[in-house]
Amino acid sequence: MPNGFPLEQCCAVITGASSGLGAEFARQLAPWAEVLVLVARRAEALEEVKRELSGARTKVLCCVSDLATEGGRSDLIAFLAANEVKPNLLINNAGLGDYGSFASSSVEKTRMQIELNITALTMLTHAVLPLMKTPGGILNVSSLASTLPMPELAVYAASKAYVTSFSEALAIELGPKGITVSCVCPGPTPTNFGKNAKREGGGDTNRDGQGLLRILPSQVVGEALGGLQRGQPCVFPGWGVAIVSRVFRLMPRGMMRWVLRRRSGKV
Ligand SMILES: NC(=O)c1ccc[n+]([C@@H]2O[C@H](COP(=O)([O-])OP(=O)(O)OC[C@H]3O[C@@H](n4cnc5c(N)ncnc54)[C@H](OP(=O)(O)O)[C@@H]3O)[C@@H](O)[C@H]2O)c1
Repeated sequence: MPNGFPLEQCCAVITGASSGLGAEFARQLAPWAEVLVLVARRAEALEEVKRELSGARTKVLCCVSDLATEGGRSDLIAFLAANEVKPNLLINNAGLGDYGSFASSSVEKTRMQIELNITALTMLTHAVLPLMKTPGGILNVSSLASTLPMPELAVYAASKAYVTSFSEALAIELGPKGITVSCVCPGPTPTNFGKNAKREGGGDTNRDGQGLLRILPSQVVGEALGGLQRGQPCVFPGWGVAIVSRVFRLMPRGMMRWVLRRRSGKV
């Protein structure tokens, strides 16, 4: 396994830090970090997370930015330059899902998912790499959904398959240059994700069999940071997700299609 990333005195940029996993990354990194840059659209929610961290010695900066737009991504890079922040850890965590069929999806939400889950993650990594001190780290938040195509969550699952593949490739490219790349693939985790993924007047996702996979954000983040420290390219947090992800990846493709058709009531 490649060298891991030491968290001590890191200077980290965390996207999507105003709630859920991103806020939890900030909490767990605060005892270690020298600087934390928290990024999201909601200024008040970011300030709330910053207030929570006021006991730690870490310097916390909030950057309000819509990362689903090119302007928002440029604003973040300009913010880092203006505040003379040279990050050595980038946590690409901001992400969005959309529950429901692709045919009935709104163009706007579909575009936002692609912009945020794929374009922002890729272009921020590209922009931050030249600024990065070594040892450096990149931690991308993917999903268990990256391991299989998901009807009624098609764009999201495909976007996360991109995140996992991209991260694994970068881990090999950047490891020898002193930059550890890791991705974490959580299963269902109680955050605002479901609320934001639901459509107006729309239903929830099919949650059959999810009970054994659900773990708290604190465990997801703890295992993700542990994996980054060890240089583990891909982390599946919680024993349920670790087992199920292995089954999904080993399952013959034809059998997987049959299971997915049955689950979505198409057989
Ligand atoms: N929860 C789960 O079950 C689960 C499972 C697997 C993977 N994940 C992944 O975990 C990551 C974190 O999600 P979460 O579960 O913590 O959900 P969450 O509570 O909804 O958090 C999403 C974060 O992304 C930020 N965000 C959304 N759109 C943004 C934009 N355009 N620009 C900047 N920031 C934006 C949100 O802040 P603002 O609204 O303030 O912008 C929020 O801080 C996502 O990548 C998600 O795909 C979640």
